[in-house]
Amino acid sequence: MSEVIAIASQKGGVGKTTTAVNLGTSLAILGQRVLLVDLDPQGSIAANFHLEDINVEYGLFDVIVNKIPLALAICDIGLDNLEIVPTNIKNEEEEINYFTHALQVRLLKGILSKIRKEYDYIILDCPPSLGTVTINALTAADALLIPVQPEYFSLKALGKFLRSIKNIGKKHNPQLKLKGILITMFDRRLKRSKAIIGELQYSFKNIVFETIIPRNSKLAEAPAVGKPVALLDMSSPGAVAYFKLAEEIINSRNRRTKTIMKGISGEQNV
Ligand SMILES: Nc1ncnc2c1ncn2[C@@H]1O[C@H](COP(=O)(O)OP(=O)(O)O)[C@@H](O)[C@H]1O
Ligand SMILES: [Mg+2]
Repeated sequence: MSEVIAIASQKGGVGKTTTAVNLGTSLAILGQRVLLVDLDPQGSIAANFHLEDINVEYGLFDVIVNKIPLALAICDIGLDNLEIVPTNIKNEEEEINYFTHALQVRLLKGILSKIRKEYDYIILDCPPSLGTVTINALTAADALLIPVQPEYFSLKALGKFLRSIKNIGKKHNPQLKLKGILITMFDRRLKRSKAIIGELQYSFKNIVFETIIPRNSKLAEAPAVGKPVALLDMSSPGAVAYFKLAEEIINSRNRRTKTIMKGISGEQNV
């Protein structure tokens, strides 16, 4: 049975999509069967693989709104073990329709339940808000991964986000676990980033991933060529970091974890 991991944060530009694409690819290269589901109406996953260049017939929009089977929206992108569900939203009207249908918070959970056994990991790339679509993801997920940039406001925002997540979990998914907080776009040259990482590790003991994703030009360039970083430059620091994260995730799979409802304590849990 697959593990469903939602990648969420209330902030945009923190590395959610980059993590979904590159963690998903690394897991796939390591032999795990992965489905990447783009929940963001901006369609960033499709953009990262240049799927706009080919004719995508169906996406999550059609599954959520027009009730077509999920199997019809799964795209083969020519990589072993990795498949994608794009959002495929074409205009504002469709976007409003999509968020309105997502008021039914258990919709995605029902949709994913039919294909869960075909994958080892299903990764949900969430929009940068706690709206109906993200609530669907948190209801469908087994675990949550939160990317955080080591910046001044991150600590406070993270505490607030975790409280909101806890309330959502209590109401819709008491079994939800916190996979971990992932530090992204770390720039070694900045002293204050190091200090903030220290604070994050102190304040959120045991729930911050050991792997830290560096700010890396290859990671930023990869979407322009439509490839995950591992296929652009396997030995770049960004690719190496996402492989390390994939290994950390595979190794943590069998660890005993408490649910998100039990307070901040224990291993990789909230
Ligand atoms: N570790 C990194 N190093 C360099 N650039 C990055 C890194 N992570 C993300 N980026 C770039 O930052 C921008 C925002 O990242 P993205 O993953 O789209 O964020 P989100 O999905 O949270 O909005 C993108 O242009 C992406 O290429
Ligand atoms: Mg994104």
